[in-house]
Amino acid sequence: MSTPERIHLFTGNSNRPLAEEVAGFLGIKLGEMEVSRFADGETRVRCAESVRGLDVFVLQPTCPPVNENLMELLIIIDALKRASAKSITVLVPYYGYARQDRKTRPREPITAKLVADLITVAGANRVVAVDLHAGQIQGFFNIPFDNLTASLLFQDYFSRKGVQDAVIVAPDIGRVPRTRILSSKMNWSLAIVEKRRPEPDKAEVASVIGDVKGKLAILVDDMITTGNTLITAAEAVWKNGARKILAACTHAVLVGEAIKKLEESPIEELVVTNTVPIPPEKMLPKITVLSVAPLLGEAIIRILENRSISDLFTVGASEQIALY
Ligand code: R5P
Repeated sequence: MSTPERIHLFTGNSNRPLAEEVAGFLGIKLGEMEVSRFADGETRVRCAESVRGLDVFVLQPTCPPVNENLMELLIIIDALKRASAKSITVLVPYYGYARQDRKTRPREPITAKLVADLITVAGANRVVAVDLHAGQIQGFFNIPFDNLTASLLFQDYFSRKGVQDAVIVAPDIGRVPRTRILSSKMNWSLAIVEKRRPEPDKAEVASVIGDVKGKLAILVDDMITTGNTLITAAEAVWKNGARKILAACTHAVLVGEAIKKLEESPIEELVVTNTVPIPPEKMLPKITVLSVAPLLGEAIIRILENRSISDLFTVGASEQIALY
């Protein structure tokens, strides 16, 4: 049987356009999975085709509405497990609840670990994510975990655009390892914005480390949610004399006033991916969306064929430290 014939890909409601695109890339049709709601709001799932003895894939980012999408994912996995699928690979291009990955104050939960336990107990055998907020979340799972990156998509985009001699800016210290992938691939310098969070979802800039004066600055982050981190960083870089500011963020979560703030910010272009769907009313002209569908499709093929996934993003030794 050829590889496409062996692929059985299902999705819930969190990002159907991306699942359709991945299916198109693979030359297959999405599997039939009914996902709706009971009258009381509970999630109702039924797999409408046999998966007995098959290697199945479920694509469902846990983006907003996070609880709804997470619950759909868990129930879909449960349905496939009880339908006797041989293996269940879960593709969560955006892994929600990732930012609480450790206790920063007493009596806080570690939601990234809780979600890992839920996905595992539901019946997943393998997980694939894109630009996981923190690489160590992979260790919260005792099953194989592939953390893909959109960095090479951004590299390709900026190369095709003819961007030369930029400075890559990490909008907080935690982002430095990831930003280094792009800066070393492009041979560009790196600057760091020292961010403080006085309270959740608020960001304050303490200082900009590195030279941005007169330069084209590209801010790189894993996600833009409220926009506070990216936009305060952009304003600081602007005040420090950057000539032009672009930004690249893998996950465009874009909640609350993010769009309004982005529109008014000094960021000329925000490049994101389609791990999270962007509704038309949020699609500002300054937003460019790159597709992760080929990356996910290729990962599915390689998983089925037992081929290396890391070959998908051939990076040097120093950049690999950022990935694993
Ligand atoms: C922080 O550690 C993350 O990498 C992002 O910078 C942050 O989560 C973005 O959130 P917001 O847009 O709400 O500042």
